[in-house]
Amino acid sequence: MSFVQLEQLTKSFERGQVPAVNQLNLQLEKGEIMTLLGPSGCGKTTTLRMIAGFEQPTSGTIKIGGQTVYSSDTSVPPEKRGIGMVFQDYALFPHLNIEKNVMFGLNKWKVRERKKRAREVLELVGLEDYATRFPNELSGGQQQRIALARALAPRPHVVLMDEPFSNLDAGLREKMRYDVTTILRKAETTGVIVTHDQKDAFAVSDRVVVMNEGVIQQVAAPKEMYKCPKNCFVAQFVGKTNLLSGTMCSDLKHVNTHIGKICLPERKDKMIEDVKVSIRPEGCMLADEGRYSGNVEHVTYSGEYQELAVRLKGAEMTNEPMIIYAPIEQDVEVGAVVSFDIKPELVALVD
Ligand SMILES: Nc1ncnc2c1ncn2[C@@H]1O[C@H](COP(=O)(O)OP(=O)(O)OP(=O)(O)O)[C@@H](O)[C@H]1O
Ligand SMILES: [Mg+2]
Repeated sequence: MSFVQLEQLTKSFERGQVPAVNQLNLQLEKGEIMTLLGPSGCGKTTTLRMIAGFEQPTSGTIKIGGQTVYSSDTSVPPEKRGIGMVFQDYALFPHLNIEKNVMFGLNKWKVRERKKRAREVLELVGLEDYATRFPNELSGGQQQRIALARALAPRPHVVLMDEPFSNLDAGLREKMRYDVTTILRKAETTGVIVTHDQKDAFAVSDRVVVMNEGVIQQVAAPKEMYKCPKNCFVAQFVGKTNLLSGTMCSDLKHVNTHIGKICLPERKDKMIEDVKVSIRPEGCMLADEGRYSGNVEHVTYSGEYQELAVRLKGAEMTNEPMIIYAPIEQDVEVGAVVSFDIKPELVALVD
């Protein structure tokens, strides 16, 4: 049985309005790290707060470690759910030193045990030498690790983190993605992390849950989600993509589009005439005599690659140019004609 189970979880703040979270079903395995990813207002924080017990669901059930913590006739208070929470602003107590901050949730423990556990979790986050400092004497990344240490101290079954990386600059953010997952794995804790940043989500999680308007769009491992987005929303929210309308060929393996025939990664088992395909920019490879060709309308350098907007021959003016990536060492100029091939592995049919 799954370790955390959300069944038909729904939250309506106001009657008659679309629910903030709408019949959400989700299962987490023990030790799994999952992220809730989606645009602002899609219901991520509300979901997290319902799991924690800070928000009362309108309907549905929540089970943690086999115990029902919420249902129509049960409501276990937050402190009895075995949950550790890391808030977006870390919420450290400014007047308590680091050791006391970390011991905060251990008030029922014996003093010696408390000190021992504080030392353990401070070692786990690599800040054992900072026990006597105060929060304002730490950097953002260090404060975040203290907030995580405090959440982990009472040995929770599940750690919930709301936008844990949003207060950090780009460099520190990357380091913290690594640190947070390493720490959670070492502590063997199940984790739910909320973010609106796809890179955060992909870097830290076993599986990603993409939400939109309170509804789950797809649950998948990062690689699978990138290669096989289920619908247009996921394809566009998770990375960049080219979405083309087309009709399926009778071989069920190709799609006719305005730029030509596109090969799918595998043969489909049923005929759907009108379809949409998502083609990742990485799936378009410049080639001397590629199957597709067009004019370069725009070049954007990112440092890691060049993003080309290519207007394909024969495509009507109304169609968007194709976005394709070219290696940084390649000379490509606006106005040039380029030709490319498309790797079927980075093509997906989407709803
Ligand atoms: N206490 C509240 N009362 C009324 N509406 C609320 C309340 N809390 C959240 N909402 C609404 O519920 C929806 C979901 O909000 P939520 O905070 O879960 O979004 P989110 O995905 O965390 O967004 P963000 O990325 O901006 O933090 C929003 O439309 C929000 O306005
Ligand atoms: Mg939020």
